[in-house]
Amino acid sequence: MNKPIMELIEVKKSYFSGGKELKILKGVNLELFEGEKVAIIGPSGVGKTTLLNIMGALDKPTEGKVLFRGKALNWQDEEFLNRFRRECVGFIFQLHYLIFELSVMENVILPGLIAGKNRRELEKKAETLLKSLGLWDRRDSTPDLLSGGERQRVAIIRALILKPPLILADEPTGNLDPQAAKEVIDEFFYLSKETKSTVVVVTHNMDIAKKMDRIFLLKNGFLVELQKTQLKQEGF
Ligand SMILES: Nc1ncnc2c1ncn2[C@@H]1O[C@H](COP(=O)(O)OP(=O)(O)O)[C@@H](O)[C@H]1O
Ligand SMILES: [Mg+2]
Repeated sequence: MNKPIMELIEVKKSYFSGGKELKILKGVNLELFEGEKVAIIGPSGVGKTTLLNIMGALDKPTEGKVLFRGKALNWQDEEFLNRFRRECVGFIFQLHYLIFELSVMENVILPGLIAGKNRRELEKKAETLLKSLGLWDRRDSTPDLLSGGERQRVAIIRALILKPPLILADEPTGNLDPQAAKEVIDEFFYLSKETKSTVVVVTHNMDIAKKMDRIFLLKNGFLVELQKTQLKQEGF
């Protein structure tokens, strides 16, 4: 049996506001295996973004453990966590967070430059990816000139260019119309198959969720795996 790339063990997260404890995650357990594609669904406000941020070490759990390749992230220093975020995780957010002062090409290669990679090699990789998603002609445009779908495709290329073992996508098609959402997701799948990354997608779109290997529902602070045959029962 292949080892999990990431494990969450009894992960809890509370926020404190106005002297009150708001318990968002109450004991989340999850094993993610190499190369698998997982969807996390659940109503707005249940803590899906919180959970994804904890997996990507953008946030810390109040209690519980997060292991990456068997190593606990909890007690690592900022330098270790920065390296983990930079080298092991590709983030795709609902808002693409592209830099509007930079061209498409510059946006795509920026994480690689920050990681100290060779510019020429990054540009070559970017060329392949931009061509495969039909964005090569837009390489010198700034993102403000692109459509929503094109921007999200650029964000996907940026997340995938360094072939991170783990890709975390938070409602990557949340701002797109259904047709653009479908195209973006198909392209995302196509690219992430090539990189053999483990993928976690938070989504409201059941067509997307059904394409994944496993589907989890976050509800009342707990994560439960849904069998695809159960989806109707749960109202999806
Ligand atoms: N930094 C924070 N401080 C206080 N409450 C927060 C903070 N971040 C998120 N929350 C609250 O935690 C809950 C879960 O948020 P979130 O993870 O964004 O949910 P989802 O992504 O499922 O919509 C929400 O009620 C939200 O208001
Ligand atoms: Mg969210």
